[in-house]
Amino acid sequence: MPLDIVRIRAAFPGRRIDYYRSIDSTMRAAAGLETGAVVLAGEQTAGQGRLGRAWHSEAGAGVYCSIVLKPAPLLTLALGLAARSAILDASGLTCDLRWPNDLMLADKKVGGILVQAADGHAIAGIGINVDQTAFPPEIASEATSLRLQWGRPPGLPSSTDILLALLPAIDRFLHRDPASILRLFAEASSYASGRRVTVRQPDGAIEGTTAGLDLSGFLIVRKDDGTDTLVLAGGVRASGS
Ligand code: BTN
Repeated sequence: MPLDIVRIRAAFPGRRIDYYRSIDSTMRAAAGLETGAVVLAGEQTAGQGRLGRAWHSEAGAGVYCSIVLKPAPLLTLALGLAARSAILDASGLTCDLRWPNDLMLADKKVGGILVQAADGHAIAGIGINVDQTAFPPEIASEATSLRLQWGRPPGLPSSTDILLALLPAIDRFLHRDPASILRLFAEASSYASGRRVTVRQPDGAIEGTTAGLDLSGFLIVRKDDGTDTLVLAGGVRASGS
């Protein structure tokens, strides 16, 4: 279903909201815009994911949004919490958060967040799979959508509904202090503590059990020899998945 851009703009008067029916990536379009500007797309032909991956961006099936923000501590964790809150408000579905900011339903990825620095700004990219009924074979085992998890045919919220909840949720979470972001993330994420994980790092994989976040929001992984490793970036997966 196409975005109802008239409704979205009407809900946020005075805010710059650029809309593209089709674009390569909202990240590129947002670079250089003023703080607070929002770029939305109906589809992306070159959607960008974390770690240099592509983001599958089927037409009319998802939320594809970039927002220009001021750089802030724990921004990626705050955005994950905001997206989780928006999905809960719009759909009643409660996502897990896989550190640092994958949105998970039934142990599959339903959304993701990408933060890029540009000209003293942080460009926050948020992708949420809403209406997809299938995914390309290379991601089919790892990806899901709200529709696939919904289980009740009528009443699935639209991407417009999610965005109407998302923009205020981002403003709310960006105003929270770092200590509460860390606490809320730890409460919302089954990955933050006590979870057996494998972490892919440039110099090989680490296996261990998560042991909370440090004050900078990095993930602590306790290896079986009792030593702790701080994970700064990299793909965290539940062990055995
Ligand atoms: C991830 O790998 O989990 C991050 C995915 C981020 C996807 C969003 S969709 C809107 C914005 N534009 C992009 O090209 N990427 C982000």
